[in-house]
Amino acid sequence: LEHFIEDSNSRIFTGTKGSIEGPYYVPDAPNLGSKAKMPMREDEKGTALIFKGQVRDLDGNGIEGASVELWHADSDGYYSQFDDGLGIPEWNLRATFSTDADGNYEIETIQPAPYQIPHDGPTGEFISSYDGHPWRPAHLHLKVTAPGKRLITTQLYFKGGQWVDDDVAGAVKPELILHPRPNADGIDEVEYDFVLDPVSEKRYVA
Ligand SMILES: [Fe+2]
Repeated sequence: LEHFIEDSNSRIFTGTKGSIEGPYYVPDAPNLGSKAKMPMREDEKGTALIFKGQVRDLDGNGIEGASVELWHADSDGYYSQFDDGLGIPEWNLRATFSTDADGNYEIETIQPAPYQIPHDGPTGEFISSYDGHPWRPAHLHLKVTAPGKRLITTQLYFKGGQWVDDDVAGAVKPELILHPRPNADGIDEVEYDFVLDPVSEKRYVA
């Protein structure tokens, strides 16, 4: 249901495409400014990733002080605060960033792993009924907004990643696929810009 509402909604806006929020969002993650490293364990496993870009309005102007909230799984596919007793620290791989005067942000993190949605009970029976699988491709979750702008809730995926073409949640869109490349220091880096619609009176249309 969440998927179909989001998909219908996104057709009437022109900014960055949205996607489903999913069940692992926690509000009020710490704010780390415009350029920072995600909270992570000292021995956090996974491939390093520099994720950066700009938040703009529909006219192409960078927005200062836009809020970029990022949360994602670790390299074993687990989220902090939903870790099945694994002891992942609170707020691990969760933070909020505020864009600088030009609307830019830059985040140091690690690449998450694919994970399986819970598939015991009715969900598992449903997946089995069409011979499916419970896997989601690796993804970053984001909420991006600014004063007077529409909040975008979205997910970003990794080109060539496992399950990108066969997501159990059906939440992948071509515009939401990242293609990180090694930077001068050999660290995978990718730029992604967000474009925010103004808050408006637009409503669903049949
Ligand atoms: Fe997720």
